[in-house]
Amino acid sequence: MLEIHLDEHDLDRQLRTDVALGLAATPKWLPPKWFYDARGSELFEEITRLPEYYPTRAERAILTERAAAIARITEAKTLVELGSGSSEKTRLLLDAFIANGTLGAFVPLDVSRTALQEAVDGLTVDYPGLHVRGVVGDMTEHLRHLPEGDNRVVAFLGGTIGNLVPSERTAFLGDLRAVLDEGEWLLLGTDLVKDPAVVVPAYDDAAGVTAEFNRNVLRVVNARLDADFDVEAFEHVALWNPEQEWIEMRLRTRKAQRVRITALDLTVDFAPGEDLRTEISAKFRRPGLERELDRAGFALRHWWTDPQGLFAVTLAQAVR
Ligand code: SAH
Ligand code: AVI
Repeated sequence: MLEIHLDEHDLDRQLRTDVALGLAATPKWLPPKWFYDARGSELFEEITRLPEYYPTRAERAILTERAAAIARITEAKTLVELGSGSSEKTRLLLDAFIANGTLGAFVPLDVSRTALQEAVDGLTVDYPGLHVRGVVGDMTEHLRHLPEGDNRVVAFLGGTIGNLVPSERTAFLGDLRAVLDEGEWLLLGTDLVKDPAVVVPAYDDAAGVTAEFNRNVLRVVNARLDADFDVEAFEHVALWNPEQEWIEMRLRTRKAQRVRITALDLTVDFAPGEDLRTEISAKFRRPGLERELDRAGFALRHWWTDPQGLFAVTLAQAVR
């Protein structure tokens, strides 16, 4: 059973607002949350298995090595996971928390109902003693619906915090701190700044899976808002922005397009070569992240990286 804080009606309403705002802006943009319908979530899982996409493997290596310590240090009774997707790596944490004898409940939250349902179904079978409560919701809006309880650990893995723009990130960390009690924990996965020759291929793979994932946002808008984007006319673009230290994903139309978005009674023109921005994926350095956490009221207690230093998992504690 899933707890639904975002139903199809809410999603339609939010998508209408985001599309109306984003396509009226210069440059045009759409938020990355809309990649993840059933097909988008599957494409993301496919991305995690690509040879070029190192973050999932690197984070798994860290969790494999550190899960027991995380369980010992936090003694979590409830594990919450934001943007949980398949919760596949999270099983390493569940195993360690259960072995530690403290964990009673797991609460994954995701905007993608299909990905969440599949994850919850699998976890319910594989962890019969654990109370698993899936929440369909938006982590930037529904943190107040997280379960009460003591000794909560909120896991936010995969580097998904990097998909929030800096102002959203600040607001998110502040909101999260506000719902946690002093002493509770944030377990945060962040991709690290590195040679663009390693980062860019992770977002522009040879098999073209990321390109399909990127274009999926247009398929979602076509389907949900009765629009007529010529999806195949958009090429996938992944650019490293050295000032901001983030990847920008864009969709670039090869030809002029007049797009009709029937549900909004809106017509939008694209010039040949015009970009639509679809995602940033920020990469982090320890001092900057520590500062952001500190400003939000979290003290960094542990910083763990994989052997190649590609990715970091941070354990931070809510402080006064
Ligand atoms: N944590 C997993 C999945 C990362 S993919 C991992 O590490 O592999 C990002 C996930 O965040 C997707 O499942 C997507 O549906 C979810 N997501 C994106 N925006 C969201 C939002 N605003 N609120 C809740 N979930 C969101
Ligand atoms: C979910 N998120 C952390 C992924 C990332 O790496 O920023 C989404 C993604 N975009 C392209 N590939 C993967």
